[in-house]
Amino acid sequence: MTRTNIMLSKQDLDDRILVQEHFAQEHLPSQMGSAEIEQYKEKIRRLLAEKDACLVAHYYTDDLIQQLADETGGCVSDSLEMARFGAKHPASTLIVAGVRFMGETAKILSPEKRILMPTLEATCSLDIGCPADEFAAFCDQYPDHEVVVYANTSAAVKARADWVVTSSIALQVVEHLSDQGKKIIWAPDKHLGEYVQKQTGAEMILWDGSCIVHEEFKAKGVLDLKQVYPDAAVLVHPESPDSVVQIADAVGSTSQLIKAAQEMPNETFIVATDRGIFYKMQQAAPGKRLLEAPTGGSGATCRSCAHCPWMAMNGLDNILAALENGADEIHVDDELREQALKPLQRMLEFQAN
Ligand code: 13P
Ligand code: SF4
Repeated sequence: MTRTNIMLSKQDLDDRILVQEHFAQEHLPSQMGSAEIEQYKEKIRRLLAEKDACLVAHYYTDDLIQQLADETGGCVSDSLEMARFGAKHPASTLIVAGVRFMGETAKILSPEKRILMPTLEATCSLDIGCPADEFAAFCDQYPDHEVVVYANTSAAVKARADWVVTSSIALQVVEHLSDQGKKIIWAPDKHLGEYVQKQTGAEMILWDGSCIVHEEFKAKGVLDLKQVYPDAAVLVHPESPDSVVQIADAVGSTSQLIKAAQEMPNETFIVATDRGIFYKMQQAAPGKRLLEAPTGGSGATCRSCAHCPWMAMNGLDNILAALENGADEIHVDDELREQALKPLQRMLEFQAN
């Protein structure tokens, strides 16, 4: 049994309005002049050092944020490495530039640290589409199933899970469970779930959630572009629909796609994931031509095609504000945190072995 009509919920529509209003505020770094950008960066550098803080950023954030994280000894990575890096780093404060589940994961793993986000409004359609109470009721229907949830979920959903996985480790974990004869409840991304199910042959029941960004990639658009660039390899994040995954030359997490662009012999790549990845991908594969996979075009339901509207809420201005006034701090209830820690630690230990 699966949930339906997630994308049409009132909550979702409200969130889209919120995103549009936010864009109207004209605060993003790309809208600043170079002198202003430099002033922001200088203040952030100084405050990071003064406040014993470290900037941990996802590949989908603005290039300027990724640059700053690199320059100040922070990290730019996929969601698994963000979690590992933040937990290991000695700084007492982490500034998590990404979306809310990334900040919550950091808090669950490092309760002693102060976890600040540029804005707590930055969420994720997968997280929104999987409310904890509905998910718990769903799980209760299948008591003999192992519960595996994607990292893109709230602390409360993680607390109901046996395992948390990210896209870079999902295949290995599910294969491991399937080898032990376990049946699996998978949530929330149905496309990633379908990919994992096909690859591993595991018995899986899927929650009906999706990413509003990756859902917009269309196989026809990619194939049309392939006609123009017949030698291009197609790189696809597995949050994309199955029709797009099927025509991929490489499928993987953000860091796995960057590695593919670096290691594959092709000169040209069609990349089906958020365009924020191009900053690091181009550094890793200089001289190669990187093309955005076409999205749904004018018929698309999101206004943010190929760029996550919530990732785009991270800017130099709200990173500075976080450092100056500590406003958008992540708090996770102690009991919930302890429950959510177990499946997260299981993932990190599995990855280490
Ligand atoms: P990665 O774990 O591959 O970085 O993915 C996170 C994400 O939100 C992709 O949309
Ligand atoms: Fe969530 Fe999609 Fe944004 Fe990733 S790109 S944070 S899955 S909405």
